[in-house]
Amino acid sequence: MRFTVAIDGPAAAGKGTIGRAVADRFGFAHLDTGLLYRAVGARVLRGERAIDAARALTPEDLSFPDTLRTGEVAQAASKVAVIPEVRDALLEFQRAFAHRIGGAVLDGRDIGTVICPRAEVKLFVTASAEVRAKRRLDEFAGRGLEADYDEVLADVRARDARDAERATAPMVAAEDALTLDTSEMTAEAAIAAAIAAVEEKR
Ligand code: C5P
Repeated sequence: MRFTVAIDGPAAAGKGTIGRAVADRFGFAHLDTGLLYRAVGARVLRGERAIDAARALTPEDLSFPDTLRTGEVAQAASKVAVIPEVRDALLEFQRAFAHRIGGAVLDGRDIGTVICPRAEVKLFVTASAEVRAKRRLDEFAGRGLEADYDEVLADVRARDARDAERATAPMVAAEDALTLDTSEMTAEAAIAAAIAAVEEKR
């Protein structure tokens, strides 16, 4: 059985939490596509050219995901993500993942619009920038990292602008996506809404 769930939206809106829960519930594989861009960004911070880095990516680049989940790598990721050749180099891997037998959940910015325009279920998960900055801060704290709220908020806003305004594959809700604004929702309620959307199409 092939079944694809596409989850898009801005940073720290809850895509990952929802994606993992949906994947667990239905036995689907889950890919956080932001990690691919983060891995390219991390290579660029080490001095590589973005396009070469994207073409050279291997599974080992993703084997320590926490080292990719820093503010510095996030900014580098959103800068390489505007380059069409970088996006092209990552496209086939994402499509192959989406088409695997047994079902797949992919979360990112352009899954429902570019990577999997025919996904059975499309969600656009969003929340206010302030709520997302607070969540990111809590996540950092949970990993023992210190961060400043104003800096995290500025980081979130800078990435939102870059992701939404770029010419290639900008972050936008697909026309047929269900939008979930999680600003005032518990994680449980957001997960339940996503699971209901999948149940309806299965
Ligand atoms: O989702 P995450 O915050 O890890 O993504 C890091 C950056 O990678 C985003 O700010 C965005 O610029 C880029 N990205 C993208 N397309 C995706 C996933 C992530 O452009 N499908």
